[in-house]
Amino acid sequence: MNVYDSLRILDLMKAFGYEETMDLADADLMVLNTCHIREKATDKVYSELGRFREAKEKRWANERKQTRIAVTGCVVQAMGEGMLQKLSFVDVVLGPQRYHLLPQLLAEREKGSRPKMEADFSADEKFDALAPVQAHGARSFLAVQEGCDKFCSYCVVPYTRGCEYSRPVKDIIEEAKLLLQSGAKDITLLGQNVNAFHGEDENGKERDLGYLIRKLAELDGLKRMSYVTSYPSQMTDDLIVAHKEVPQLMPYLHLPIQSGSDKILKAMNRRYTTRLYEEVVDKLRAARPDIALSSDFIVGFPGETDEDFEQTMRLVERIGYASAFSFKYSRRPGTPASVMKEQVPEKIKSERLIRLQELILSLQKKANEAMVGKTTEILLTERGKKKGQLSGYSPYMQNVHINAPEELLGSFICVKIKQATATSLTGERTDSALSSSDDKKKG
Ligand code: 5AD
Ligand code: SF4
Repeated sequence: MNVYDSLRILDLMKAFGYEETMDLADADLMVLNTCHIREKATDKVYSELGRFREAKEKRWANERKQTRIAVTGCVVQAMGEGMLQKLSFVDVVLGPQRYHLLPQLLAEREKGSRPKMEADFSADEKFDALAPVQAHGARSFLAVQEGCDKFCSYCVVPYTRGCEYSRPVKDIIEEAKLLLQSGAKDITLLGQNVNAFHGEDENGKERDLGYLIRKLAELDGLKRMSYVTSYPSQMTDDLIVAHKEVPQLMPYLHLPIQSGSDKILKAMNRRYTTRLYEEVVDKLRAARPDIALSSDFIVGFPGETDEDFEQTMRLVERIGYASAFSFKYSRRPGTPASVMKEQVPEKIKSERLIRLQELILSLQKKANEAMVGKTTEILLTERGKKKGQLSGYSPYMQNVHINAPEELLGSFICVKIKQATATSLTGERTDSALSSSDDKKKG
């Protein structure tokens, strides 16, 4: 979601004549889009702003050039007005639902107004006020839903992004068309709770994500689609069946469970049990046997015992994830879990994280190795690290590197997989037709 927001800020400023640069010495405007989800992300904000300040002062000292600094995103929402007082070199501060005001606030600042902060919550006016989208490559993101009403006891999102909001179906279709016209071939639908989507159609009727996916699948040029992030107990049967019925829907799903212990899920205020989660997985696999599953895990949540953690390890093995993200529990200010009594010592959190990540990596390696010898379709999205190399990803969201000419960037090609590691695949371009069974045989 933050990548999406950053790209929208870029589109917005381009409409006002700005160009993108990654060189701070060259920037008239520096924008730091921030994340508050874990302490580590928030800590980075201050070190990055230190770099910005230094570059701003240098530009002024050496070239007498004025530099504006804007801070956007969830840290702003959490810190409030204090941020401006603390950071006198910052010109504009905008919460995640207010970044469309950036050009206006910068213009006011040019006219001599004081640094300003806007952090109102309502998301509806933001999307209307933004510049028309354009694809930033063959893979594009499209925000369909924002905010969250779930209030998991560890999480800041409901406080920083506000309550759930779904965009109208018509606006989403329009945005998807613009993305496809400007080069997108794969669209990832975004939302903090994407499967809670309930946008209105033109007749004012609320529609769910399964409906939206089927509508989008009718658009010319849309070859791949996925959605992230889903809440396990909101995987409706209709959405699950879409994985069988909609060919563009990738056989991949990120479905965070967070813990394998029902006791911990309850303390986290996650409103499902491991049993319900596993039933959803069974249904998904019945609908799409080759589906690659991914998850998020938090280790060391307050009260997590060795046995709770072992339950997580066993669940990971039972499900056989193709990939997963895992984090040490991070105490976030203002959340119920941050004041729970039985906080787990840092050392134990670290030990558990190492064990879980080793297990996840071994499963990832297994899933990747199962692709060796198969031919699969890759969307080439980036230049590789080595010269002459491009990289892209498989229908199962695996990273794939191949030697291929630069002109192929943004296209789909058939690749025979030759080698696998835990984090990526390497292959060779093949002109042989793709057999549909090849794409379905992943273990
Ligand atoms: N500590 C650790 N991880 C967290 N996440 C959210 N809040 C916290 C926290 N306080 C993780 C969850 C979520 C992912 C985006 O970040 O696993 O799914
Ligand atoms: Fe945070 Fe996701 Fe829980 Fe919402 S559902 S509170 S975004 S972890």
